[in-house]
Amino acid sequence: MNTQAVSIPESTPTSTPILQQRGFTSDNIAPASEQVIEAISRANSGQAKPYGVDPISQQVEQQLREIFECELEVMLVPTGSAANAIGLSVLTPPWGQVFCHPDSHINNDECGAPEFYTNGAKLVPVDGDDARIDPAQLAPLLQRMVGDVHSTQPAVVSITQATETGSLYSLEQIQQIGQLCSDAGVRLHMDGARFANALAALDCSPAEMTWKAGVDVLSFGATKNGTLAAEAIILFDPSLATELGYRRKRGGHLCSKMRFMSAQMQAYLAEDLWLDNARNANAMAARLAEGLRGIDGVELQGQPEANIIFCRLPQTTIEALLDQGFGFYHDRWAPGIVRLVTNFATRADEVDALINAVQTLQQRQIG
Ligand SMILES: Cc1ncc(COP(=O)(O)O)c(C=O)c1O
Repeated sequence: MNTQAVSIPESTPTSTPILQQRGFTSDNIAPASEQVIEAISRANSGQAKPYGVDPISQQVEQQLREIFECELEVMLVPTGSAANAIGLSVLTPPWGQVFCHPDSHINNDECGAPEFYTNGAKLVPVDGDDARIDPAQLAPLLQRMVGDVHSTQPAVVSITQATETGSLYSLEQIQQIGQLCSDAGVRLHMDGARFANALAALDCSPAEMTWKAGVDVLSFGATKNGTLAAEAIILFDPSLATELGYRRKRGGHLCSKMRFMSAQMQAYLAEDLWLDNARNANAMAARLAEGLRGIDGVELQGQPEANIIFCRLPQTTIEALLDQGFGFYHDRWAPGIVRLVTNFATRADEVDALINAVQTLQQRQIG
């Protein structure tokens, strides 16, 4: 036992200060929407049946059926990785192949959770521009070694909408991939961690962007865009629900006090909060792109379509911005490439402050 006296500072802070970063690192740095926090507080009275059979959970199912204009089954989980991995697990056997883009979250950022929850299904990267799977590259893979007992078998295609680089699949592109899947008898999964951003940008209906285009299972993200921790696995094929229920429980993601998670989702979906939030995030990204576009020495990469922008900046400018307290990722791609992400709470003055800072630094450099 360590008997050394521990020195305690005279004034121990009673709460951790809120991070005041001028942040464009991720939409995960956003707070939760006020309406969501209030809804949790409202749900915090009296008793309710546990494990998702409370009235709020049932209302969320109804809300989603209305929004997607179809019969569907919903299961809430606290993280997007759980939604993806557990959602995929009902679409593939352990010997199946899950086709995904090399840049996809399931391929890079989930610590093997899809492989873990599917009992070892094989992720097969399929390339394409702007983090979108190229249907021409996908098509032959869906037919390769089918029926050969020595090979894993095509089972699922997973697309991300909006993608990890902020690009979008058009409705036609989703339909094309949906058609390839249905011709090959494989399932289509959509990682919709930024579903609302994509929907707001495409200005189409949730049904058009999903089941009408062939999507079987959607990871309906909400945490990046206003909830505290609540994501939905949406099954457009309700026959998958029984298996998903067992898998969610077995995977440790059936929350006992589900009413609090459902309260978040209920508030998120009510009165178009989810779409208003996404519209703000997208508008702030467009404002940022517009402001940066005119500055000498700044090169936007691609066309910003949702709430993520990539651009190239001189290294000295990157370092000076970081010194000034701006937050963004800059060392994960080619030298000079930075990623800027806006969120539902990003304000125009925060965007303008970044644009002005870049402008000033670039003028100094060029002048
Ligand atoms: C494309 C995508 N999918 C899924 C997720 C879900 O991640 P998490 O498990 O951190 O909620 C993220 C979060 O960064 C993401 O960007």
